[in-house]
Amino acid sequence: MRLIMLGAPGAGKGTQAARVAAELKIPHISTGDIFRANIKNGTELGKKAKAFMDAGKLVPDELTCDLVADRLAQADCAGGFILDGFPRTIPQAEALDKVVAELGTKIDYAVNIDVPDEAIIERMSGRRACLSCGATYHVVYNPPKTEGICDTCGQPLVLREDDKPETVQTRLSVYHEQTQPLIEYYGAKNALVSVDGTKPMDEVFADILKVIGK
Ligand code: AP5
Repeated sequence: MRLIMLGAPGAGKGTQAARVAAELKIPHISTGDIFRANIKNGTELGKKAKAFMDAGKLVPDELTCDLVADRLAQADCAGGFILDGFPRTIPQAEALDKVVAELGTKIDYAVNIDVPDEAIIERMSGRRACLSCGATYHVVYNPPKTEGICDTCGQPLVLREDDKPETVQTRLSVYHEQTQPLIEYYGAKNALVSVDGTKPMDEVFADILKVIGK
């Protein structure tokens, strides 16, 4: 199955994409995680992406689309994949359509996780992220077993640079301007399914499996 996760920053895309990927045994591809790994490793891509990310803006399409095209051409994606954080603009969605058509396939579902802006601000301030393996926690809703330490890889958890309240506000504006139009885009292709992302995490997960027929 080939899936896209749509939703505002902090809607729960990463949380749910990881669970769905494990359930369906398909790779979870997060462009945000790929950029953060590049920043951590000091690559050229990371240096270019950092300034945009820290400001809450989108990394330019030309740095993003080829990276995803290369990743989707890898062998582990042949049986399906779940994209988290891509596409984020109409040009990215058009680029993705081209890539999947060249691979002789199509996107089965774009899963929209619906959460109002008010709930987002609260979630982001409580989020803690592992920059080593990409796992995400919340101090109240999904705490790690040991405070400040990743359950999966044992590395320290951090408040992401772009989770500061003023940057979250910019990211929400960017989302409404540039990413929200994708809801209509995938609706027109009859690929859009939506879930209420304000419910508890386990319920959101169960709802996603239901809307994708699993
Ligand atoms: P990215 O990492 O993709 O960030 P984002 O889309 O802003 O999404 P987040 O990771 O912030 O949130 P999420 O929806 O995954 O929520 P999560 O599951 O963590 O991108 C970061 C930056 O990289 C962008 O701003 C941009 O600069 C750049 N970038 C990336 N992709 C790009 C692209 N394609 N083009 C251009 N630039 C790109 O959940 C949030 C919190 O809420 C967590 O603490 C979680 O535990 C908690 N939570 C989750 N679900 C629930 C629930 N049901 N109830 C209560 N709490 C919950």
